[in-house]
Amino acid sequence: MLRVGVLVSGGGTNLQAILDAEKAGRIRNAKVVFVLSNNSSAYALVRAKQAGIRTLCLSPAAFPDRASFHGALLETLQKEGLDLIVLAGFLVRVPEEVIRAFRGRIINIHPSLIPSFCGKGYHGIKVHEAALRCGVKVSGATVHVVDEELDHGAILLQRAVEVRDDDTPESLQRRIMEEAEWNLLPAAIDGIANGKLKWKEASERR
Ligand code: GAR
Repeated sequence: MLRVGVLVSGGGTNLQAILDAEKAGRIRNAKVVFVLSNNSSAYALVRAKQAGIRTLCLSPAAFPDRASFHGALLETLQKEGLDLIVLAGFLVRVPEEVIRAFRGRIINIHPSLIPSFCGKGYHGIKVHEAALRCGVKVSGATVHVVDEELDHGAILLQRAVEVRDDDTPESLQRRIMEEAEWNLLPAAIDGIANGKLKWKEASERR
């Protein structure tokens, strides 16, 4: 049984999708045992508590400097004995020491078809604003392995979603969540836990 830790910053609909999939038997051989947030008012923490999962808030603002926040984050994740770390709307850049310690065992969901609309500054609603500005006819979501470059590591799963002429950033965000994200993230966890996912390390993509 893989011990899974989920890192969140906001509403936690992706966390909820994981918990629902676990309950429904769509995730086998993996279990969310820990949820961490950088934001004490994240609704995701309420969802985790309701499911009886241990939670912790580690806010960078509570530490004297970034290095001590990074040290505390690494120590916490190691202490939990996690086999897999899932970034589900975690809006803090994962420090290099954490990536090194959990190499190949951290995955992220991003609400676009990487390599479009990703990297610095592209998170949450901003991704969908950029997609609409650009006029793309298709967007979607990507689950990828986390490496030292933002939104860059090996792609595990992607799903395309139609962009409609009358979309607002909010309507596009919602459709991408419903049609892609809430399926992809549980599928990725199940795929990893059961040896079903094959991927190529990302080379010089950009
Ligand atoms: C999701 O759309 C996720 O893909 C995105 O934040 C949202 C979190 O929603 N992540 C990023 O933009 C990361 N670059 P949720 O808290 O309801 O799961």
